[in-house]
Amino acid sequence: MANQQLHRIPQEFIDTLLDRTDIVDVVDSRVKLKRSGRNYSACCPFHKEKTPSFSVAPDKQFYYCFGCGAGGNAIGFLMELEHLSFPEAVEELARKVGMDVPKQEQNLSPAAIAAQQAKTQARNQAYDLLEHANLYYQKQLRQHAQKNQAVNYLKDRGLSGQIAQRFGIGFAPPGWHNLLDAISTSEQTQQALIDNGMAVKKQDSQRVYDFFRERIMFPIRNSKGKVIAFGGRVLGDAKPKYLNSPETAVFHKEQELYGLYEARQHERNLKRILVVEGYMDVVALAQHKINYAVATLGTSTSRYHLERIFKMVSEVIFCFDGDAAGIKAAVRAMHTSVEFMSDGRQARFLLLPQGEDPDTLVRSEGAEALTTRIANATPFSEFLFQHFAEDLDVHNLEHRAKLATDIMPVIQSMPKGLMKTMMLAKLEDITGLNQDTLTQLTAVAEPVTAPAAAAEATTSMPATDEYPQPLADVPDYGHMPDYHEVAPNYDDYTAPLPAPGEEPMADTDPAVGRPLGRQIGRQIGRQTNSHIRSVQNPAQAAIRLILRHPHLAQAHTELPSHLQALHMPEAKILVDLLTTCQTMQAHLQRAPKAAELQSECAQMEAWPLMQDLAALESLTLDGDHASQLQEAIDKLQHHYYEQRFNDVQRAINEASNSDELTLAKQQLRALLNEK
Ligand code: UTP
Ligand code: MN
Repeated sequence: MANQQLHRIPQEFIDTLLDRTDIVDVVDSRVKLKRSGRNYSACCPFHKEKTPSFSVAPDKQFYYCFGCGAGGNAIGFLMELEHLSFPEAVEELARKVGMDVPKQEQNLSPAAIAAQQAKTQARNQAYDLLEHANLYYQKQLRQHAQKNQAVNYLKDRGLSGQIAQRFGIGFAPPGWHNLLDAISTSEQTQQALIDNGMAVKKQDSQRVYDFFRERIMFPIRNSKGKVIAFGGRVLGDAKPKYLNSPETAVFHKEQELYGLYEARQHERNLKRILVVEGYMDVVALAQHKINYAVATLGTSTSRYHLERIFKMVSEVIFCFDGDAAGIKAAVRAMHTSVEFMSDGRQARFLLLPQGEDPDTLVRSEGAEALTTRIANATPFSEFLFQHFAEDLDVHNLEHRAKLATDIMPVIQSMPKGLMKTMMLAKLEDITGLNQDTLTQLTAVAEPVTAPAAAAEATTSMPATDEYPQPLADVPDYGHMPDYHEVAPNYDDYTAPLPAPGEEPMADTDPAVGRPLGRQIGRQIGRQTNSHIRSVQNPAQAAIRLILRHPHLAQAHTELPSHLQALHMPEAKILVDLLTTCQTMQAHLQRAPKAAELQSECAQMEAWPLMQDLAALESLTLDGDHASQLQEAIDKLQHHYYEQRFNDVQRAINEASNSDELTLAKQQLRALLNEK
């Protein structure tokens, strides 16, 4: 029965499906497995027993029960356990990996069946061959006469034998025929070596030689641990530094992540994955017990990569060099991530100091410092806003419009959810434009992800360097804004401090303005003990206004005490100041005068800062101090709100059970309602 149906679904499809499925996941999500050596075990779900005799072998992708004799692959397991028919089980697995089962029920011709069988056979032969090559290279690292140059190289780079072994690192010795001589016993094997990128046939002379020579060899394993390709690094400075296997029937580099198999071997239930650029980064991080790094293989992060990552974990951190190329890579990764950003998932971005990569950094500053960097990596929403607001001036109306036009299509291509709602709210806040206007703005711009491309993403082999294209052209905003578009100086808290005697803000060129990107992402607290020459944040602005015009405090009898939770020392001072005003008001039965308030405040620890602030000259044109104060406090509210949102978002990401998750989501909802 099963066999008959088997022919209706092309064997090739089933092979691919089994290739992309891991039986350990399939079983483990239904019957909790325990690691035992290379395998996993559990009490058999097919017969009653007290001690586990049911076992799953990840390398063979098989389950077997020593008690009752039940056994088979992932499809068989589902059929048995859930009483499914063969096509139903296939359907179920296919759904999990996002493949569509071909609907056709045509009877295949014998020739077509034979062709499929040949393909399956070739694939299995490729796995065997590459495994042999892998063993050969590993053996050379231990036995070859020139092994020392390789061993010393690895030692110099801080790698232990243990780590080399975990990653199966090997050595391709110098010479043109080592691998060929070692494993090519027949014409057919030689051809297979060529087909799999391990040997090269020279077009003109027909001579065949080893592809990898005198290199450190990194085997690239697929999710089942089968070697599917290699990366080889020169021992010195020769070029190319890395040589990678070409695309073959079993290796599609845009789909593979170096180190993913090893990471999961180390810890099946990964919490997060760190995406880095190089083989050596992955290996060096593992050497320092950071065991969740993977590397793309010289390509940018693809949708396919992200699909795989988000099937395993809810958080990905992209870690790149801080140079122009690294920033570009991060921005690409950001665009590719957009469609994956549903609630509970997070993508973070970590740009390293110039000239460093994870390998050099973990060796120089240690795992703990790097882990801290990872924990503090910029969240998706923040990175997105920073990127699009770079070089824009938040106080310029048309810059704000540009920001909205640029960013709206991206936010709109996010999956529905609280995070999306939140980001729209943030955009509204920043731009001061309401939802309707924002939607209108984007109606003109092209959508960021073509619907067809999005639909295709889960099934076919993606063209992975593809990522959302730059957004529609933005109008030229070259003209000088009117003076009233220039902000009052009070929230000029990221502008560089002007030189003494120079006016901080009034005569800076407003068209150049301050980069909003840095402003948004920035930690706003600053040293309070230095002699300040301009107002640097909204709390300082508010303090200054109240010290000079104490009657303004009357409008704020409801103390914004919660603002003390802000990571901004002046927020606490502001609350203290408002409290002082209130107390004095109660005593005097009127608002204190500036001199009265200031002499009262002279007792306070923060007085030096307050004094500086009070002395600062106003640079704003109009004198509507009340609304300036209101605006400053509104800004603080916004920061407060944002800070809490980030906390809740973090709680969602780090929730370790469904109760915690539900609670965190409730908090998020409450937060949105509050808003
Ligand atoms: P890098 O040039 O950043 O090298 O390449 P690296 O990882 O720091 O290497 P080490 O530390 O000098 O050994 C990053 C990745 O880009 C690909 C490789 O996948 C490499 O790991 N690459 C680089 C190549 O494919 N070929 C090259 O010649 C160089
Ligand atoms: Mn490096």
